[in-house]
Amino acid sequence: MELMNKLWESAKADKKRIVLPEGDEERTLKAAEKIHKLGLAYPVLVGNIDEIKRKAENLGVNLEGIEIIDPNTSEKLEEYVNKFYELRKNKGMTLEKSNQIVRDPLYFGTMMVKLDDADGMVSGAVHTTGDLLRPGLQIVKTAPGVSVVSSFFIMMVPNAKYGEEGMLLFSDCAVNPNPTAEQLAAIAIATADTAKNLCGIEPRVAMLSFSTMGSAGGELVEKVRKATEIAKELRADLLIDGELQLDAAIVESVAAQKAPNSKVAGKANVLIFPDLQSGNIGYKLVQRFANAEAIGPMCQGFAKPINDLSRGCSVEDIVNVVALTAVQAQSIK
Ligand code: ACO
Repeated sequence: MELMNKLWESAKADKKRIVLPEGDEERTLKAAEKIHKLGLAYPVLVGNIDEIKRKAENLGVNLEGIEIIDPNTSEKLEEYVNKFYELRKNKGMTLEKSNQIVRDPLYFGTMMVKLDDADGMVSGAVHTTGDLLRPGLQIVKTAPGVSVVSSFFIMMVPNAKYGEEGMLLFSDCAVNPNPTAEQLAAIAIATADTAKNLCGIEPRVAMLSFSTMGSAGGELVEKVRKATEIAKELRADLLIDGELQLDAAIVESVAAQKAPNSKVAGKANVLIFPDLQSGNIGYKLVQRFANAEAIGPMCQGFAKPINDLSRGCSVEDIVNVVALTAVQAQSIK
């Protein structure tokens, strides 16, 4: 796949340190070996060192040259415990609790990212999206000027007549259950920037609804309409339009009828869903019925990249998400 090849080359050109906190998980071990071999990043496995080595040996995975860190014996543990306590003491954190929590590989890995001991983190082969996001949201937080962390999928649809020759970005399909109009606008802007900076395409952003340009009303439609206005006001440089039904967003003949004056309708390559129910269902419909490849969910908006995997992920998925995370890390100043 052309985009992924490009991203692999970018990742190799300036290698980043990416933490894999599910260090003793089978697919993660196989992926770490591959990432190291291909030179996509410096993978760092977190977990019990003996257990990781034993599993690797059983699997025939060669971990030579790959760093393994056990939170319980790490020389960084005390520093991370103190820092996590400082960061969260106004939320009721105590030093004693911090000393327990930071030993959890997910929290330890997140602290590595926070304190610049790693450039990014990828997890989720075992843990849920919420398990991974919570430490990220509590510790790494959002990038300057960004109000909300969200997610995106790069969808590769075999029928190349939609979006950018079959490539579209979908958001938010994994993080914010019910964004406000302001948050929805922020999600649209973040996804447009991701489309440009990561995928190298000129974004045409459709704010999706069950209504097209006033064909229906009510508070659900009103939210999307308001989000569109806010996003346009904040970023006049971007092509964002709404509210649009899915067909009006991607099918030129429908757009010509329903939204003839829109520069986005019929040509959208970024689809913004009004809430997590529609986003999550939407990407899975396209993935299953259209046999599309769904790369992600990738996160956007964190101060440093933290990314999730689906628990059904393959070794190849982990390798790709690590490469994408490394490329995201390259743009962090
Ligand atoms: N952006 C920025 N900060 C956020 C966000 C966000 N989207 N959401 C929460 N926060 C902050 C909060 O302000 C809070 O900060 P503070 O503790 O410093 O005050 C912190 O993160 C924790 O917030 P909570 O509200 O306590 O966290 P919550 O328990 O709501 O968890 C989470 C947040 C994990 C993102 C939750 O909304 C969630 O579970 N989302 C859905 C994930 C999911 O299940 N996705 C579907 C499956 S994925 C798939 O199918 C591909």
